[in-house]
Amino acid sequence: MLSIVVCVSGGGTNLQAIMDGIENGTIRNTRIAGVISNNAGAYALVRARERNVPAFCISPKSFADRADFNRAFMEKLEELSPDLIVLAGFLVILPSEMIRLYRDRIINIHPSLIPSFCGTGYYGLRVHEEALKRGVKITGATVHMVDEGTDTGTILYQKAVEVLPGDTPKSLQKRVMEQAEWVILPKAIDEIAMHDPAQNTVQKGS
Ligand code: GAR
Repeated sequence: MLSIVVCVSGGGTNLQAIMDGIENGTIRNTRIAGVISNNAGAYALVRARERNVPAFCISPKSFADRADFNRAFMEKLEELSPDLIVLAGFLVILPSEMIRLYRDRIINIHPSLIPSFCGTGYYGLRVHEEALKRGVKITGATVHMVDEGTDTGTILYQKAVEVLPGDTPKSLQKRVMEQAEWVILPKAIDEIAMHDPAQNTVQKGS
């Protein structure tokens, strides 16, 4: 069974989609070992606790410097020992040691069709503001592997979403979440859980 850790910073609607997917069987062969937030006020933590999923806050504010925060974050990951780390709206620059240690085992959801509207500074609502400013007619979301760059890893899934006349950044964000993010992130996790050769307990009889 694929054991995952979900890293979050905010509302946690993607976390919710993952928990719902595990419950309703669209994500198979997967368990959440824990949820880690860098932000104590993240509603994602409430969502996790409501489902009895172990939830932890590791905030940079509680540490003297970045190195201490990174160490605490890495220690928590080691303790939870995930097969896969899912960044679901996690707005923290990952320690480079983490990327090395969990190579090809970290995925991220980004709210655009990479390589559009991605890279440093493109996160959350900002991505949709820029898409509207540029006047694109199609946007969407991407699930990709995480490497040393910002949004540069191998693309695993993408789904396109139409931009409609009168869209605001918020209305576009909502449509991208509903039509793309909450679909392709669960799908990517299911795919990894069912087809990763390292998950040797799976696929018997399927
Ligand atoms: C999502 O739209 C996600 O794609 C985005 O943050 C939001 C988190 O929402 N991530 C990024 O912009 C990463 N570059 P959520 O907390 O409700 O899942």
